Amino acid sequence: MFGTDELCSLRWDPVSEKVEVIDQTLLPHTLRWCHLDSLEAFCHAISTMQVRGAPLIGITAAFGLAHALSQDASDENLAGAAATLLATRPTAVNLRWALQEVSVAVRNLAPPERARAALDKARALREEDIANCERIGDNGLQLLRTLGSGDSLNIMTHCNAGWLAAIQWGTALAPIYKAHASGMPVHVWVSETRPRNQGTNLTAWELQRAGVPCTIVADNSCGQLMRQGRVDCVIVGSDRTAANGDVCNKVGTYLKALAAQANGIPFYVALPESTIDWDCPGGEQIPIEERDVAEVLSIAGLDAGGELREVNLAAAHSQALNPAFDVTPAALVKALVTEHGNFNASEEGLRKLRAAMNGA
Ligand code: MRU
Repeated sequence: MFGTDELCSLRWDPVSEKVEVIDQTLLPHTLRWCHLDSLEAFCHAISTMQVRGAPLIGITAAFGLAHALSQDASDENLAGAAATLLATRPTAVNLRWALQEVSVAVRNLAPPERARAALDKARALREEDIANCERIGDNGLQLLRTLGSGDSLNIMTHCNAGWLAAIQWGTALAPIYKAHASGMPVHVWVSETRPRNQGTNLTAWELQRAGVPCTIVADNSCGQLMRQGRVDCVIVGSDRTAANGDVCNKVGTYLKALAAQANGIPFYVALPESTIDWDCPGGEQIPIEERDVAEVLSIAGLDAGGELREVNLAAAHSQALNPAFDVTPAALVKALVTEHGNFNASEEGLRKLRAAMNGA
């Protein structure tokens, strides 16, 4: 299913050595690849959300650092380019992780060897991400199988944690793709995810392309759907997971977790190990990105003539606030679905996960 470059969010051409990403700000109306050919272009792609989603942000930054080293492989540029990339978005910890991975791979090499080694590392991280997301899919599928009622399984998700947020498969959507491919009937409730509408614009687009039945719902309708017994489980991704199992994800995730607990519905979080911040003891320590209030005060879409337009929603000079993420306490999470297996969201669960990572 995900064996072709057509279905990936970032591609690297071995002949031209070009890095191209899908410009996600244009979806679902236009599918356009965008060539990243300068440090500025990589930073712009991340900060303006042409690429977004914790795993993809990390991989894009890794290629961005490799590109910067191909221009100037000095110690100063290694540190400077890594710092510039790190400043593009504060919450997704994969950004820091990927920059560290590349920096460690090259810092003890002579400058002429650094660019090639950095590119090799970025390519390896990309391949690992694909393999890890596929494993997340297999592990999550085991959980979905325990919920089967005979009818179609109704799964709710928030934001976009599909292949657009990773390279292929995705995190939260990987088990859904696996279930669909295995013949299990599934239907996905896609919450729109105001203010950037990643659910409407990205998740629904991905699922429709893959032939997975899905329905877009307003964020505010999700509690009611749960009360009505129309949701069998909720599965979301994570932008940063603390060492105690608290999960930071797209704003609105916490409300879904509360509603899921109140209605006895399992709430799962799917994430690769690169999303865990082992130095972060709990969710309070996670920096929450605040984005431009224009995202709240306006909305973009196609007009009747098919032109993409942005329109104001609020009265002129309205005050607004735009926190992009929230923290869901570990106690509300039924399981963390990872490439190493499924674990409790707790300090003990994370310790077991770390042991599994180390092959214990
Ligand atoms: O602001 P974004 O679109 O980069 O945020 C992404 C998310 O919060 C997603 O929910 C996702 O689950 C985390 S990345 C797989």
